[in-house]
Amino acid sequence: MKYKALYGTHDILPDDSFKWQYLEDQARKVFALYNYKEIRIPIFEETELFARSIGQDTDIVKKEMYTFTDQGKRSITLRPEATAGMVRAYLEHNLGEKSPLVKLYYLGSMFRQERPQKGRLREFHQFDIEAIGSADPAVDVEQIEMAVRICKELKISNFKLHLNSIGCPVCRPVHREKLLDFMKDKVSKLCDDCKTRYMRNPLRMFDCKKEGCIEQLQGAPVMVDFLCSECQTHYDQVKEYLKELNIDYFEDKRLVRGLDYYTKTAFEIKSPLLGSQDTLLGGGRYDLLVEELGGKSTPAIGFAAGMERFMLVMEMQKKLKYDEKKLEAKTFAVKLIRDLRQNNITCEMDYLQRSLKAQMKEANRQKAGKVLIIGEEEMKKGKAILRDMQSGEQQEIELADVGRICS
Ligand code: HAM
Repeated sequence: MKYKALYGTHDILPDDSFKWQYLEDQARKVFALYNYKEIRIPIFEETELFARSIGQDTDIVKKEMYTFTDQGKRSITLRPEATAGMVRAYLEHNLGEKSPLVKLYYLGSMFRQERPQKGRLREFHQFDIEAIGSADPAVDVEQIEMAVRICKELKISNFKLHLNSIGCPVCRPVHREKLLDFMKDKVSKLCDDCKTRYMRNPLRMFDCKKEGCIEQLQGAPVMVDFLCSECQTHYDQVKEYLKELNIDYFEDKRLVRGLDYYTKTAFEIKSPLLGSQDTLLGGGRYDLLVEELGGKSTPAIGFAAGMERFMLVMEMQKKLKYDEKKLEAKTFAVKLIRDLRQNNITCEMDYLQRSLKAQMKEANRQKAGKVLIIGEEEMKKGKAILRDMQSGEQQEIELADVGRICS
């Protein structure tokens, strides 16, 4: 076969598409519950829109965008994220005039020319929400609650919510001075990217993953200690609401985001199963962007989640749970039936050590819809047999996939 999918892109094959549909359905269910409405925006936009929104000095704009000149000599870019396009659509169609608070969601693929690795692709998928029109910290908490709820609906375990405030143009310059002063003798020890960040956008040095830079930044002044009274009140209120809602969070004073439009609240949810690309989702307030793009001053907040990363965590959890090599068929079945019942699926298993034939007869008598056959043979092959009792059709499914029928 001559052609292959390009490096950093992937096909979602028929055997896997149901998992994507499931993920999308869970996300949509939560969006509907919180009254967010779907918007669909183009895959490409004017380059200027992204450069202006995300920031000229960010890695995304500087090195990761797929930009080309079209036949009309316009500079076009495949969207590296959805917020800029959504705000552009919000302004273009005067959505703010129809309703003072506009709550939108979006699902689709994004494009960034990064070095592919586990959880990092060049074409990847995000679901994204934006609430445009309110400065109320209760909206920040609504979105954080939604993010947590989606993780819970998808049965993601051990995720951790990181929270920070990255201030506003009033308080940032004060912190900036302190940070520049603290780092001035250490600049020569920073990586090239951080040397540039030191000059142009010092807060983003905190985003560097390189050991050397992390070391140099030890003890550096953090933004949250320099918040102006408005940002401080906002941050305190967010934390207060989170506490009242029993949402656990970790105050991550070094959390900064990879895009420049943020103000005040910044948050991420991370999973320890993901390795170096451990952020499942991230977002925050961007109270200045609407104005920056030509609208009137309008506060806003949003987040986006990497769907491939959710897929990875879900697959890894299933593997951990149904580790076929370590379990006997019977133990596997005992755990599986517990999970099915936990998911409100009525089911029964054989407790009388009957032959397979006798078990099938019993299943018929009980008018079972489906039967899952898991014997030692199947365990060895890493497969289970799923039989539809009405049609008599049987299919082999991966043991690691059995968990999906619990969902
Ligand atoms: P972001 O942090 O750049 O934020 O991306 C959000 C999520 O997309 C990440 O946490 C990650 O899960 C996923 N992601 C990013 N890059 C890749 C990649 N190369 N491969 C796979 N997954 C990736 C934004 O995009 C903002 N627009 C979020 C936002 C919405 N802020 C306000 N509203």
